[in-house]
Amino acid sequence: MSTTPNTPTSAAREPSCKVSAGPHDAPSSPAGKRPAPPCTLVIFGAGGDLTKRLLMPALYNLAVDGLLDDGMKIIGVNHGERETSVWREDLHKSLQQFAADKASTFHAGKLDDKAWDWVAQRLEYMAGEFETDDTFAKLKQKLDQSPGGNVIFYLAVTARFFKPIVEHLGKAGLLKEGEGDAGGFRRIVIEKPFGTDLASARDLNAHILSYADESQVYRIDHFLGKDTVQSILAVRFANALFEPIWRREYIDSVQITAAETIGVEGRGKFYEQTGAFRDMLPNHLFQLLGMVAMEPPNSFDAEAVRDKKAEISDAIQPLTADDVVFGQYERGPAGIGYREEPDVAPDSTTETYAAARVYVENWRWAGVPFYLRTGKRLAARRTEISVQLKPVPFRLFRDTPVDALTPNVLTLRIDPAHGTSFDFNVKTPGPVMQIGAVQSSFDYADFFAERANVGYETLLYDCMLGDETLFQRADSIETSWCAVDDVLHPKTGGAIPVHGYAAGSEGPAEADALLARDGHAWRPLKQDAVEKK
Ligand code: BG6
Repeated sequence: MSTTPNTPTSAAREPSCKVSAGPHDAPSSPAGKRPAPPCTLVIFGAGGDLTKRLLMPALYNLAVDGLLDDGMKIIGVNHGERETSVWREDLHKSLQQFAADKASTFHAGKLDDKAWDWVAQRLEYMAGEFETDDTFAKLKQKLDQSPGGNVIFYLAVTARFFKPIVEHLGKAGLLKEGEGDAGGFRRIVIEKPFGTDLASARDLNAHILSYADESQVYRIDHFLGKDTVQSILAVRFANALFEPIWRREYIDSVQITAAETIGVEGRGKFYEQTGAFRDMLPNHLFQLLGMVAMEPPNSFDAEAVRDKKAEISDAIQPLTADDVVFGQYERGPAGIGYREEPDVAPDSTTETYAAARVYVENWRWAGVPFYLRTGKRLAARRTEISVQLKPVPFRLFRDTPVDALTPNVLTLRIDPAHGTSFDFNVKTPGPVMQIGAVQSSFDYADFFAERANVGYETLLYDCMLGDETLFQRADSIETSWCAVDDVLHPKTGGAIPVHGYAAGSEGPAEADALLARDGHAWRPLKQDAVEKK
């Protein structure tokens, strides 16, 4: 596909913010982007992995781009006494390590010292337990030093602390927003897992919403921070080519894959409770499905986009045991089995692989199967969406029956490859009319300078601006859990069986059978042969 980079077109997103940007000494911001308003970012879980791996790299990248206000402050809360200087130094060291590590998403090479110093000067550490009044009284004192100030409370903690932290913030009066132009915003950012099923998600929403308004709650799904995921809407709605065929009359099926080669990476305890299905399906994979299936919104206004996405989660037909296959990796070419991993029971029945057939019951998609799969220790790392078109209606080429033609497939590559590809048919060279399948592809790196983005840059920046487009609303979270509730709590038939697959393989054979009964097959994870054909 031949594409030339065009003048960037900004989406008609005009978020409201209450405070205008002040003077700025960080590098100047990219054209068309303004620095976020001044705010204090309070990170609960300052000593955790998320802060170090994702939040700090994202803040650093925003500082490099000059998108943070000089008035910004970052208060890190964690249990255990620690000097601010020690926290800063720890963060600096890990940032340097990630920047130097080619396998890291934050492979920035050498750090820009000016940008890091800018961030470091704004860091302050505060020791505090997440469940004691004392912590919140201390925090209030600090925040009262700049009354009316904007504050974002980022809950980078394990899920069991979500409720107590929000409750303490509410009771301490820290979620009260100022009024009028002088007022400051108070926002809460919550990580996944947002509940473990429908009942717990409802309960968590109700709890949070008894202390804060929905407009103050920013529920993160980090997949939505990825440029390649946001680009799904650009591909669909900025090109005249796709919209006419983006419907049941032309689309045969859609495959959504999030395959990983890593195992549980020392997260045995968490994974034993969660499993691949809860970890990935009703959140990340449903988000991708939503981007593919949603109707065009009237604008890129947050509510317009979120309304359209909410319609999709609402239209997902509740999954049953017949629609899903679970698997667990066993010792194989890629290493040990799941049951041999630390903190995993030797007779564990937790699934490390999940596949599902999903139907979106609405006018556009009725009858089109969406096949979703995710798993650990698979043959390749590959997050992508493949949209397969129906065959042509008539056998025009004598030697090639319609069903022998390679189907047209548009693949949107999310990770680690970034781009798109399209499978189609041409005449092979020579005197005889013969059909040959080819693939045309576009790679981001060929057209744009790729940054060492961790995906949280846009999410943090949008939260500071008050733009909720990429965050999940309470209703969508609940309808997504609702669609999978019968799988998690089967009313009949018992738990879903878990089938073994060799570490490093394509997944369990039963997942192939799930598609085979509809006359379909998964696209191979190891696709080198197909791609180079
Ligand atoms: C997380 C899951 O939400 O997403 C992990 O808890 C998974 O188990 C990860 O590995 C995948 O995200 P990414 O961005 O690395 O594809």
